[in-house]
Amino acid sequence: MQGILGLLCLLWSVPGSFASWGDRSKIFQRCLSGCWRNNCTGRALERFDQQQPGYMVMLGWWCEEECKYGCMWRTVEQIQADPWAAVPQFYGKWPFVRVLGIQEPASVLFSILNGLGHVVMIGVFRRKVPSHAKMYSVVHWLAIVSINAWFWSAIFHTRDFLWTEKMDYFCATSLVVFQLFMWFTRFGGFKESAMFGALLAAVFSCHVYYLGFVKFDYGYNMMANVAVGQLNAFCWLGFAFKNVRQRRYMWKCIATILSINLLLLLELGDFPPIWWTFDAHSLWHAGTAPVVPLWYSFLIDESLYLLREAEEKDV
Ligand SMILES: *[C@@H]1O[C@H](CO)[C@@H](O)[C@H](O)[C@H]1NC(C)=O
Repeated sequence: MQGILGLLCLLWSVPGSFASWGDRSKIFQRCLSGCWRNNCTGRALERFDQQQPGYMVMLGWWCEEECKYGCMWRTVEQIQADPWAAVPQFYGKWPFVRVLGIQEPASVLFSILNGLGHVVMIGVFRRKVPSHAKMYSVVHWLAIVSINAWFWSAIFHTRDFLWTEKMDYFCATSLVVFQLFMWFTRFGGFKESAMFGALLAAVFSCHVYYLGFVKFDYGYNMMANVAVGQLNAFCWLGFAFKNVRQRRYMWKCIATILSINLLLLLELGDFPPIWWTFDAHSLWHAGTAPVVPLWYSFLIDESLYLLREAEEKDV
């Protein structure tokens, strides 16, 4: 039992990412070793344990981590004394002002907003689309996969550890892959869809296996997501442009895909957080939130169209 707990603690405390020039700097390193020595041993540690609120401890703000946070700001202050100096990153992340122990409050807020968008819109979908419509169940799965992905995104931005980061990445990829699957089921019958789904699941498993157990490779992960994302965009846009003249609501599909691709530029072009709060990644999450209702609105229109088409065939 203790072994398992120890292992869990080890996993929990592995820092989220590789070193950056902020944490490699002399200022930071000196501050950190001083802080660990003076604040995290003996009486000082006892005092710390008494003072640190329970929820902060639960979020992983132990003494060592608290030192990293404190020293991060000391380093930023010293480097920023030179007005031309760049903003340093620490362990692959920008410095953010934490709120209630939440490391990246803006990203957490926007992730929750996206998740809520899916919760609300699947409700709207259920009210408007009868359950025998062709896309009924796949849209439900989309909602589940999306809510799961945004849940892990919120967890990861609350506190980045290696395992929360992995969960966030894998679930985000599952969402991109699922969108491709959904595109396929729009045309394919049950058998073809099941086969295509199995193929995607196999590819996705290999991806997770590689990142999770072989090498956690940021560059490869980004490439894989962008590649599947672009294939997605190509498929959905092709479908939408082909039908937009007969079905005007296809503009919603086009607008969704184009917005996501524009917002993706934010994700690829990183910049330091504005007011130490809003970085490119958080703004990408902010931008995707209003697109969620548009996407569901398109799915509702398309489902109802398919339903009418089927009924006309029956008559
Ligand atoms: C170490 O503890 C002292 C006293 O509690 C505190 O003022 C200081 O900020 C801590 N050091 C760091 C780097 O957080």
